[in-house]
Amino acid sequence: MDLRAAWMTGVLAASVAVTSGTALAQDAAEGEKVFRRQCFICHTVDQGGPNKQGPNLFGIVGRKTGSVEGFRYTSANKNADIVWTPETLDPYLVNPRKVIPGTNMAFAGLRNEADRKNLIAYLQTLK
Ligand code: HEC
Repeated sequence: MDLRAAWMTGVLAASVAVTSGTALAQDAAEGEKVFRRQCFICHTVDQGGPNKQGPNLFGIVGRKTGSVEGFRYTSANKNADIVWTPETLDPYLVNPRKVIPGTNMAFAGLRNEADRKNLIAYLQTLK
């Protein structure tokens, strides 16, 4: 590869990195709106925030089910033994009762895939 081609490759790689970074930020910003509409009524997201009807969700991605101190989980949620990752959150947000039978999270489910993807991108920023 001559110098000019090498330079172009560098420029292209840099612009791809910038674009995908922006896309992620947008996903999370959209996801925050979904959260405000669908989840905020029962969950706080700030570090050390209070539990409402549902547990505080700060740091939820990477955490095991039922690990918020002081929140009275159902034994179903407490003992589900799932680590919350984008892969486990996705089906849970479609249908919580299917993933954790016996949960009392009264949420009908988020059918829209783009909304779920954005919401999970937002949940990943809570750390
Ligand atoms: C009507 C109230 C309500 C709404 C709305 C709600 N949740 Fe929940 N959520 C709960 C309750 C209650 C629990 C605990 C369930 C249990 O103990 O069985 C819970 C549990 C969870 C858990 C498991 C937490 C853990 O520590 O294991 C996650 C993740 C979660 N909710 C995410 C969400 C998201 C994201 C939304 C919005 C799409 C949402 N919830 C909407 C009430 C709600």
